[in-house]
Amino acid sequence: MASWRSTFSSSLLTGLLCLLLIQHHLPAATATVMTQKPTSDVPIFREAPIFRNGETCGSSNADKIHVAMTLDSNYLRGTMAAVFSILQHSTCPENVMFHFLWSKYEPEVVTNINSTFPHLNFKVYRFNSNLVRGKISTSIRQALDQPLNYARIYLADTLPADVGRVIYLDSDIVVVDDIVKLWKVELRDKVVAAPEYCHANFTKYFTDLFWSDPDLSNTFEDRNPCYFNTGVMVVDIDKWRKGGYTQRVEKWMGVQKQKRIYHLGSLPPFLLVLAGDIKGVDHRWNQHGLGGDNLEGKCWNLHPGPISLLHWSGKGKPWFRLDSGKPCTVDHFWTPYDLYRSAQSLEE
Ligand SMILES: *[C@@H]1O[C@H](CO)[C@@H](O)[C@H](O)[C@H]1NC(C)=O
Ligand SMILES: *[C@@H]1O[C@H](CO)[C@@H](O)[C@H](O)[C@H]1NC(C)=O
Repeated sequence: MASWRSTFSSSLLTGLLCLLLIQHHLPAATATVMTQKPTSDVPIFREAPIFRNGETCGSSNADKIHVAMTLDSNYLRGTMAAVFSILQHSTCPENVMFHFLWSKYEPEVVTNINSTFPHLNFKVYRFNSNLVRGKISTSIRQALDQPLNYARIYLADTLPADVGRVIYLDSDIVVVDDIVKLWKVELRDKVVAAPEYCHANFTKYFTDLFWSDPDLSNTFEDRNPCYFNTGVMVVDIDKWRKGGYTQRVEKWMGVQKQKRIYHLGSLPPFLLVLAGDIKGVDHRWNQHGLGGDNLEGKCWNLHPGPISLLHWSGKGKPWFRLDSGKPCTVDHFWTPYDLYRSAQSLEE
């Protein structure tokens, strides 16, 4: 009996001690967990420097530069780098207004942008992914089938009516020139401006069924269609609204649902409506393909010529390749804009 009692009381004591120890260690333990893995998987970024307007900058509405990008926690590191690069190379960084489109509400992401760029002019808009859910047909690359990829079709419907022109940018880019130069492109009667690639094989974006059906392929009859990348576009959204371009792009997505007329995601319906009818922009504004092609681990080099914007389109993203320890040479152009603070640098 006595021995039972002493065992009992000693185990009770051990239990109490453990409890005390646990309580004592609780805050420290929680802090460690937080540094290694933020609760919501949203990465942690360091605060960017403050960028101020130069003396020549105006401050009226007409001086504003509107930039639209999508917001997705998976690509946040890219978005942060893109924003940072734009501000850093702008003569009038305070005139840049960012419009972020998201489909899934993630308050941490907005808090994150706010703390990384405390003086950023930005607005967030919910992109209703139900708009496209029934219209997306699956492609060979799953990443391209995400509803948010289609948000660029709905810019005119999403942004406020007083925004007449917008630059749409993908999240896997960095700008290394003053974005005002792209902003000021003369659109004349065109709705979209983007670099055009008339030597690219345009045929391959569409299926044999499309080319063999004159009712469909007739759409290019009076045009000389050239490939352009929809990751960098200047869009006159007034003209887009008036011309019913959203419905025109949607119409082709409907055709695709019925019969397979093209391969990749959101690009071909844009080409169907606009290829051969856009304002060409200097190629320096979209050095695309830096993500490599669909083959894992294949690096692409820069194309010759001057560069204002680098674009990691393709499967490989610089932040993944850098983290994996197997970066491509071009990824080192992205590193200076990376604001990500790894768990390791937090502990330093
Ligand atoms: C961002 O920060 C500003 C100023 O600190 C604050 O007024 C605003 O409410 C914040 N926005 C969000 C969405 O957290
Ligand atoms: C263009 O692509 C199509 C379809 O992939 C192919 O049949 C054709 O030979 C290509 N043309 C050229 C000039 O490479």
